[in-house]
Amino acid sequence: MAALDLAALARDVVKDWLPRAWARQIDLGLDADDHPVMVQGNRLMLTEMLNNLIDNAIRYTPPGGHATVRATADPFEPFAYLDVEDTGPGIAPADRERVMERFYRVLGTNTEGSGLGLAIVREIVQQHGGEVSIDDHVYQQEPRLAGARFRITLRRPAPELSA
Ligand SMILES: Nc1ncnc2c1ncn2[C@@H]1O[C@H](COP(=O)(O)OP(=O)(O)OP(=O)(O)O)[C@@H](O)[C@H]1O
Ligand SMILES: [Mg+2]
Repeated sequence: MAALDLAALARDVVKDWLPRAWARQIDLGLDADDHPVMVQGNRLMLTEMLNNLIDNAIRYTPPGGHATVRATADPFEPFAYLDVEDTGPGIAPADRERVMERFYRVLGTNTEGSGLGLAIVREIVQQHGGEVSIDDHVYQQEPRLAGARFRITLRRPAPELSA
């Protein structure tokens, strides 16, 4: 664990995924603060976590959709947020706990996968003392897709008191 900038990490990982996103006709974007979002974390593990979330966003969102990664610091609370959201089918509330379990896959996605990605995400977040939540992201009429938003909440170290 070391001090690292979540916004810079998000920028680097998103850049790596751009070719694969374009190939799938997904508009992958970054929405990061200009200033650093400092957390205590393990760079390799957090990169792996983000890889799994972006992989899902790109894999389950139909071509023509959007995926956005956002790193923000809560201005009033000691928390940092890493959000990965997409305009795909979303995850039904009843499945939100279970998708984080190993080998669980929602039926009817027609997409290959082993059901391990989110279990790895959960493990990494737990090792960082953080939390994962899943929400809807968008409400569209045509096509009617809920979108998914994964939010990782990590604790920010208290800023050092300036002398
Ligand atoms: N962004 C998303 N939008 C819609 N459904 C999703 C999304 N992310 C995950 N899911 C659902 O949750 C299930 C579990 O995801 P998870 O990443 O754990 O496994 P996987 O993608 O099936 O396989 P892999 O081990 O290759 O990641 C998926 O099969 C899919 O049904
Ligand atoms: Mg996956």
